[in-house]
Amino acid sequence: MNNWNILPQLTPAFTFLKNVDIISLLHPAIAVAFVFPIIGIVVNFSWQTRQRRLAIKKGDKSKIPAIVGREHVKIGRWLTGSVVGVTLIALAYSVVFGYQGFVDRQKAGELDNFQVIFVFLMFIATIASLVLLYRAKPKLWRGVFATLSGMGLIILGAQDGVYRLGNEWYWSHYYYGIVVSLLMIFSLAIVEDIYKDRANRWRNVHIILNCLALLLFIGQGITGARDLLEIPLSWQKPAVFGCDFNNRTCKSENQTQSPVISYHQPN
Ligand code: HEM
Ligand code: HEM
Repeated sequence: MNNWNILPQLTPAFTFLKNVDIISLLHPAIAVAFVFPIIGIVVNFSWQTRQRRLAIKKGDKSKIPAIVGREHVKIGRWLTGSVVGVTLIALAYSVVFGYQGFVDRQKAGELDNFQVIFVFLMFIATIASLVLLYRAKPKLWRGVFATLSGMGLIILGAQDGVYRLGNEWYWSHYYYGIVVSLLMIFSLAIVEDIYKDRANRWRNVHIILNCLALLLFIGQGITGARDLLEIPLSWQKPAVFGCDFNNRTCKSENQTQSPVISYHQPN
């Protein structure tokens, strides 16, 4: 199941991963190595921006340089792109390799060409809307492109193959991921409004929503690690899905079989 045979097998003896498993690692690896460090930088600058603004409002002198606000926005713009990017990578993987995704349906002879083209065009449209959102200045266009890129994510997330954990939505990696991506898109869309609004209403909306985003990011770290633990390697799926998930037990055909670790040891 789920063996992507078009690519040459890239997996030499030193890894148990097959091609499809290596592709599935792309999303978590990019999230951990690139997106989470960016979150740390953005949050650090955001805290300094706030401390500096409040100190100056009180009439104190702040030791924090004036540049921190601009730095927060500069890296924040990168954050929006990387969060949406990492979400699109996860969705692309699931739509192709997920349960009832393109590969499964092709094997069953049920793959609908129209749907493949539709999904492909949706990816292009979502990315194009985000690029245009980065460039848009007037309020109307920022609203339009933010809505379009957000809708693109929701429509792609609704495709077969995406693992949504719908009945346990309150700790679903998918729902957290989509909400946090929408919040990043919204942050990007209202940058101009935060600066223009003397009454700080947009600024306060931004702070409240992005404190929630920060909690969701932490949730992504936890639920993503949990999902990595729960998803078996492609070639292990037939065995693992034969287990009794309600009672959390697996029948072992041969109880005396050596543990997996022995594969690493010389005979
Ligand atoms: C986890 C993500 C984020 C958090 C927790 C966060 C939080 C904050 C906080 C606390 C402030 C300071 C508010 C104050 O002055 O009291 C701020 C300012 C701001 N944020 Fe964010 N933010 C995040 C992401 C973003 C993103 C992705 C963007 C845009 C792409 C953005 C745009 C802005 C802007 C324009 C300001 C005003 C900066 C200034 O006064 O010079 N933020 N943010
Ligand atoms: C910025 C942080 C992250 C965002 C926005 C995010 C978003 C998403 C989204 C939207 C999906 C699609 C669900 C699906 O297609 O089945 C997904 C899947 C996945 N993510 Fe993440 N993710 C993030 C971080 C992580 C991290 C840190 C890990 C692991 C350490 C991880 C592991 C996974 C795994 C294993 C899947 C596939 C199975 C599943 O749906 O849970 N993610 N992610």
